[in-house]
Amino acid sequence: MRLFIALVFDNETVERLSVLRDALHDQSERGSFVSRENLHLTLDFLGECSAEERDNAIKAIDSISFSSFPVLLDRIGTFSRDEGNIWWVGVKESMTLMKMQKELHSALVDYGLHVENRKYRPHITLGRRVITSARPGVLNIPIETTAEKIVLMLSERGEHGMIYTPLHEKTAKKAALKSFH
Ligand code: 2AM
Repeated sequence: MRLFIALVFDNETVERLSVLRDALHDQSERGSFVSRENLHLTLDFLGECSAEERDNAIKAIDSISFSSFPVLLDRIGTFSRDEGNIWWVGVKESMTLMKMQKELHSALVDYGLHVENRKYRPHITLGRRVITSARPGVLNIPIETTAEKIVLMLSERGEHGMIYTPLHEKTAKKAALKSFH
């Protein structure tokens, strides 16, 4: 089974991401656009895993500390590809996100999973193999959201595209309320 670990967002955020995806789609000659239910921010890609590795990934996820934190989605960017670029929504630099991803990554390594050691570049893919007249840039109205849920996702190729099925979820502890006294 092919697995990855992602942050998934509330409905309002997904709705706003869908609007951006639709705008990109409208300006594109071609491309493969991510369906609403598949919009996510990958934390780590695990690739092909055994049942034992899946169980260890669950243990790794459960071992990390995770309190909710704000996430600002503030720009559209691309990864250059010969077959047409990958278009994504980028996250404003967040030490909290980078620290959490690092902790998760180390836990996965400790539990024996084979994770890539590429530099982590947090993004939410909107489309792949995109040929478009659109231009990347900052969002006029950034999307303010919260990291609240980490999901271990099963990735399968369906008849009409990728199907992602959540196998395990970890919900953040609420961040401590600031005291005004
Ligand atoms: P992407 O959106 O930039 O393609 C499921 O494939 C998720 O895992 C996608 O969000 C994908 O990122 C991410 N991912 C990270 N590394 C990957 C890899 N080597 N192969 C496929 N997907 C990868």
